[in-house]
Amino acid sequence: MNMQIHIRLAEKTDLFQYTNLLQKTYEKAYVNEALGLTKECFSKAVFNSENTQDYLKSRLKITEKQKTWLVLIEEKLVGSITYISTDKNQGELAGFYVDPDYQGQGIGKKLYSYFMKHISIGNLVLDLYCHNIKAIEIYKRWGWKIDISRGQKGYFYRHWPEWPENLQAKCMYMRLDR
Ligand SMILES: CC(C)(COP(=O)(O)OP(=O)(O)OC[C@H]1O[C@@H](n2cnc3c(N)ncnc32)[C@H](O)[C@@H]1OP(=O)(O)O)[C@@H](O)C(=O)NCCC(=O)NCCS
Repeated sequence: MNMQIHIRLAEKTDLFQYTNLLQKTYEKAYVNEALGLTKECFSKAVFNSENTQDYLKSRLKITEKQKTWLVLIEEKLVGSITYISTDKNQGELAGFYVDPDYQGQGIGKKLYSYFMKHISIGNLVLDLYCHNIKAIEIYKRWGWKIDISRGQKGYFYRHWPEWPENLQAKCMYMRLDR
């Protein structure tokens, strides 16, 4: 399919579409009943809670230290990626999502290349859920490695305040040295 994509910096007014993109992508990619990560963990209500909305709003702010780029097809938001500068030699790749209906068509790769061209030189870090095998494989192919210098030999556990109290999801740190 030959789709005309457009990449631009995020704006405050993107919050509604950004919330929907993330909610849909999280539900599709991260629900895992065996781990206790049910649909309710990533529901519309969770994404529209005050806590999550504040977090998503903060991600759309463009500053000297943070940039979020969005991919659009006409007016429809189909992808996002965020750069956060953590110190002068290191930055973080975060919020990398493509709408499940548009995945596997090269959009993520184009957005990643755009991101790499537009950020300053330096090492990159990210974190992701360990059950997100597909993304782990993609990052490995793109040269990323497990970052054993962080967490417990590269691993840590995540808990959202909206989740059942004892639910912890295993996550992994990765890094790309450049
Ligand atoms: C990860 C993600 C952003 C990639 O976007 P995408 O548009 O689907 O990616 P592309 O179609 O450009 O494919 C990127 C690479 O993954 C490969 N790929 C695509 N679908 C795949 C699949 N189902 N399994 C394994 N590899 C796959 C492609 O072949 C391509 O590999 P290459 O770079 O070696 O050519 C997207 O799948 C996504 O939003 N996933 C859920 C959220 C997530 O995991 N985000 C990252 C967390 S940090």
